[in-house]
Amino acid sequence: MPRNPTVVRTVPALRRAVDALRARKATVALVPTMGALHDGHVSLVRLARRRAQRVVVSIFVNPTQFAPTEDFGSYPRTWKEDVAKLAAENVELIWHPEVKAMYPDGFATRIVPEGPATAGLEDRFRPHFFGGVATVVGKLFTQVRPDIAIFGEKDFQQLRVVTQMAADLDLGVKVIGSKTVRERDGLAMSSRNVYLSPDERRVAPTLNRVMKDTAARLRAGEDTAAAMAEGAAAITQAGFVLDYLEVRHATTLAPIGSLKDGPMRMLVAARLGTTRLIDNIAV
Ligand code: PAF
Repeated sequence: MPRNPTVVRTVPALRRAVDALRARKATVALVPTMGALHDGHVSLVRLARRRAQRVVVSIFVNPTQFAPTEDFGSYPRTWKEDVAKLAAENVELIWHPEVKAMYPDGFATRIVPEGPATAGLEDRFRPHFFGGVATVVGKLFTQVRPDIAIFGEKDFQQLRVVTQMAADLDLGVKVIGSKTVRERDGLAMSSRNVYLSPDERRVAPTLNRVMKDTAARLRAGEDTAAAMAEGAAAITQAGFVLDYLEVRHATTLAPIGSLKDGPMRMLVAARLGTTRLIDNIAV
């Protein structure tokens, strides 16, 4: 029988609830989310459940990672459905703070991540983003004090940034990446896919198809620059405005010329109409 998770909205209530979960030294996993949960989030929760005895999910649409021109106001919020999905997974606790509980009046501290956060990928197009993510995730880690935290590989640069931050700041949390969950046609699941019109939705899987084809060409030993340029052209021809299609070192996110130079990750960001999609695959 699914059990309704406990929902807490203040830091003192969270601390009491997490202390109770930790009784008899139970291990705790945190899955940070902004809600609008889909099967990709459910797979994060399931991985958390396999790796720890208690699962806490945070649902907080974090204003500090959105630029004023972005979709903070219209970001999908589906609270009732989210709680039902988490109840079905027997999640013990939902941390759902008000903005004021996270950022009380007078809040004046921000984490400024470097390294993977300044790799020239998402940070080039969303300069505010990783400061906002690092600050809120740093707070979530110190509020919940989980043993492990699960993040999707879909936001690959974000995964690298929070992994680096947890290590650099000795936060005592092991960050674990979870494989991207895809629709049957290859489109990576994302809360923002609901913004796509039916025509855009038909075109959207092109991103994954082009990345797979281009990665196969690189594995076959083709010239990196030529294969990447053709991949970029195919994405543009399909109707996207391309922000970037790049291959990077899978750990440092530094530019990398060929597979001989280390593990490679291909990352893409492109806009279809007003919707911006990101994705990545291992090469
Ligand atoms: O990936 C997300 O949903 C958000 O960036 C996160 C990690 C929950 C921080 O707000």
